[in-house]
Amino acid sequence: MSDWNQIYRASNGPPWDIGRPQPAFISLVKNHEMVPPGTVLDVGCGTGENAIFYAQNKFTVSGLDLARAAIDQARSKAKERNVNVDFQEGNALALDFKAGSFDYVTDSGLFHTFNDAQRPLFRDEVARALKPKGVYFMMCFSDKEPTNWGGPRRVSKEEIKETFSPRFKINYIRDELFTTKIHDKGGRAYLTSATRL
Ligand SMILES: C[S@@+](CC[C@H](N)C(=O)[O-])C[C@H]1O[C@@H](n2cnc3c(N)ncnc32)[C@H](O)[C@@H]1O
Repeated sequence: MSDWNQIYRASNGPPWDIGRPQPAFISLVKNHEMVPPGTVLDVGCGTGENAIFYAQNKFTVSGLDLARAAIDQARSKAKERNVNVDFQEGNALALDFKAGSFDYVTDSGLFHTFNDAQRPLFRDEVARALKPKGVYFMMCFSDKEPTNWGGPRRVSKEEIKETFSPRFKINYIRDELFTTKIHDKGGRAYLTSATRL
């Protein structure tokens, strides 16, 4: 996973890029865990489906990704669909937003790409970008997902707690499914809700 741009430029596109929002994040809005109007940062936004969905549901949305190719696709989609999202190329380990900018930070598949040293850096950046009592929602592959197909790191509940507890109150870590192009019934994942202390 060293060159994200190359993966996005491949003709078949990445396995996670499903052309619609992840069902788990749709549920957060439908179940009123994310309540508009509010500000949202979708960090590691890829080609923007989740961010566009939030904007269509009356949130003010920024989407950030390291891959220029993903941001270009996200901007094109937003324009085609007549939706306003601030899509930016940038690094989640050095966020270029004022402290306390967001009510919500959402992360669909970014945290599980980081190594041990990057995890606390990322946690501190998310905490800084959130307002006090802002909420971080994160979905990552869980340690229940088989490793026979490769993919990113599997993450345990203990690792999530260890990383985020110093700056967040963990509301829940629950079983979820990642919809991908390579799973019939979805990949085993954890969805975490955590409130900034
Ligand atoms: C598994 S993909 C998920 C993309 C998107 N959230 C989705 O659900 O389709 C992980 C994304 O994180 C991005 N990424 C990786 N490292 C990053 C970093 N340090 N800062 C920002 N984005 C990063 C990649 O370019 C990629 O788009």
